[in-house]
Amino acid sequence: MDNILTMDTVATNDVMRIIERALEFKKGAKSSFQNKSVMNMFFENSTRTKTSFQMAEANLGMNVLNFDVDTSSIKKGETLYDTVKTVESIGVDVAVIRDSQDAYYQQLKDVNIHILNAGDGKGQHPSQSFLDLMTIYEKFHHFDGLNVAIVGDLKHSRVAHSNSVILEKLGANLFYGGPKSWYTEEFHHFGPLLPIDELVGTMDVVMLLRVQKERLATDEQFAADNYLETYGLTSNRANKMNSEAIIMHPAPVNRGVEIADEVVECNKSVIFPQMTNGVFARMAMLEEVLQGEA
Ligand code: CP
Repeated sequence: MDNILTMDTVATNDVMRIIERALEFKKGAKSSFQNKSVMNMFFENSTRTKTSFQMAEANLGMNVLNFDVDTSSIKKGETLYDTVKTVESIGVDVAVIRDSQDAYYQQLKDVNIHILNAGDGKGQHPSQSFLDLMTIYEKFHHFDGLNVAIVGDLKHSRVAHSNSVILEKLGANLFYGGPKSWYTEEFHHFGPLLPIDELVGTMDVVMLLRVQKERLATDEQFAADNYLETYGLTSNRANKMNSEAIIMHPAPVNRGVEIADEVVECNKSVIFPQMTNGVFARMAMLEEVLQGEA
């Protein structure tokens, strides 16, 4: 693959190759792209994705350029296209981009550098999908027939979109939880919406989503006071999960909203191991697009 923009176009054999390579990196495999430059262009806030890409790039020996939106000519009105075309012109090989516009990458079809989508608006989040898939595979060694519940702010979540698409392709059984108004039509064909109390006892994976207050419309502003009791993963619910089941969350976490504070680091939780895996998954993604160019 030259670019990784959306999980819609990623085939299952691509997924398995990238996961296997990420697991090799985790075991200590080395790869070097010392002659390659990468620019991290984050037009939206990020802790995990940005730092994890920076670590992955450093591990691959790449020349890393960080892009400061606030001091860039974006502030003078330069377009995303002209900005990325400039980055291409100065010799950067890979752009890692997060932007608030859904499918921003459609504007960049005429740019001749590799693009890794680090999140587009309410669209998709492919690098989160790869680290999530790696984490699930590490635990279960397969996807086919796994019961996976994605619970919470589905409507505004790029993680829900990209993971639904790819988990279905990989043969997982998908279920959803959370407020009915967030279970929008695009999810209906993937799987049913069920109460959290029905989900917890039968799932292999319970993947929680952050309530994205910054993306909620005024009429959706949520009475977060009751969210945990109605839709969230309380200790009581976590205790009803199967002994081998895992709790995932892309983070950042609203402790006490979608997940009880004490559940975040309980023995079923792989939330922080997901972040560890993110570095190796992103190394494998960078290597994938640079394949043969070292
Ligand atoms: N999971 C995730 O995308 O986190 P950041 O927004 O901190 O990058």
